[in-house]
Amino acid sequence: MNKQTANFYNKFSIFYPLIDLFLKPQKKRLFHEINRQPFGKLLEIGVGNGTHLPLYKTHAVTGIDTSLKMLEIAKNHVADSTQLLQMDGENLLFEDETFDYVVLSHTIAVVDNPGRLLKEAYRVLQPDGKIFILNHFTPNNWLKYVDYSFQPFSKILHFKSVFHIESLNSISKLKLLEEIRFGTFSYFKLLIYCKA
Ligand SMILES: C[S@@+](CC[C@H](N)C(=O)[O-])C[C@H]1O[C@@H](n2cnc3c(N)ncnc32)[C@H](O)[C@@H]1O
Repeated sequence: MNKQTANFYNKFSIFYPLIDLFLKPQKKRLFHEINRQPFGKLLEIGVGNGTHLPLYKTHAVTGIDTSLKMLEIAKNHVADSTQLLQMDGENLLFEDETFDYVVLSHTIAVVDNPGRLLKEAYRVLQPDGKIFILNHFTPNNWLKYVDYSFQPFSKILHFKSVFHIESLNSISKLKLLEEIRFGTFSYFKLLIYCKA
């Protein structure tokens, strides 16, 4: 577990509602896609302050995060059936093939090692399960220069501004089922994968 990232999010937790406002339209679409899947066991890695947890309507939800402060706030937003645990997404303490769905909402470019996170998400996923990844993805247009110029500051904010999912080895084990783009320049996307 990266203690510095956990500490950063412990402190950042009071400001996160501002980010939440900005992410609201994307999350609406994320939950539309998730809630229309058949009932299953769902793991959200990097669940954050959990204000979106009431939007899960269909599944048995487990949320994990490394930041205790974020989890404390998340506890105010959950139904009794939702399980919240402090755990490192890069070292999941679940058995192989435990979950039908894994959700990574603005988490994959925050963790230390996104490749390891994806490998772990793959490991705990059922053979016919799905992974939902909502994030920014550095595009191959002028916006990439914004990501490059922001890179030195993004380290301070504990995320990777330059992020290419195709650079992760573990992505080859997944098959892309759907790509949903947000905004004029498609900087944010929801990618839905199953095991290849
Ligand atoms: C940008 S927030 C996203 C929160 C929420 N999923 C959302 O969409 O609003 C990223 C979260 O990932 C958590 N995080 C960072 N590294 C982690 C790790 N290795 N394992 C689990 N959670 C982690 C942070 O503490 C933070 O709460």
